Amino acid sequence: MKVLGIVGSPRKDGNSAYLLDKLCAELEGRFDIEKIYLKNYEISACQECYYCQKNDECVIDDGMQEIYPKLKETDVIILSSPIFMGGITSRLRAFMERTWHLRKGQLKGKLGSYILVGRRDMGAGVNEMEEFLSRLQVNKAPGVIGYALHKGEIEQDDEALNGIKALGKQIFSFFKL
Ligand SMILES: Cc1cc2nc3c(=O)[nH]c(=O)nc-3n(C[C@H](O)[C@H](O)[C@H](O)COP(=O)(O)O)c2cc1C
Repeated sequence: MKVLGIVGSPRKDGNSAYLLDKLCAELEGRFDIEKIYLKNYEISACQECYYCQKNDECVIDDGMQEIYPKLKETDVIILSSPIFMGGITSRLRAFMERTWHLRKGQLKGKLGSYILVGRRDMGAGVNEMEEFLSRLQVNKAPGVIGYALHKGEIEQDDEALNGIKALGKQIFSFFKL
């Protein structure tokens, strides 16, 4: 069984990546874990050509072509992002737009959840994550919200750390492990 963690932060060792690492530590041993850092991929915004409507694939030849097979093969999808200007990061937004052709049930049966970290105001972040998982028709486990600004501050957020443990348990119980 596989877990795919998708990091939308520009900081590989930032607060949202930290919580994802904690979740992966909970799941280690029972799942094969792969993390991808969107900052390492060139991902264009959707160009609204509607090629995918007829062909069920995206015509843009960029980093997403490496990510599509990973999304199809994994059992669990965890998105992690900081809040930037009241929502998820533009990197994660571009990734989401580019999964439009996967909304027809191709990922049904998988489990999805998310991690969001902001300093104070989460704005539309939760809604964006929930909408994305709904559009992809995956099963949802409750996301985890953390509050922190500078790198490492998230280590003081006990509620977020407990939320990660709870999410780990939900994932095990979804797969009856
Ligand atoms: C460009 C920018 C915009 C931000 N906007 C918000 C915001 O709207 N609300 C908020 O609570 N925090 C905001 N923050 C703070 C980050 O969400 C916070 O520092 C977070 O811990 C960063 O997570 P990371 O370490 O995983 O990148 C912003 C930070 C940056 C750099």
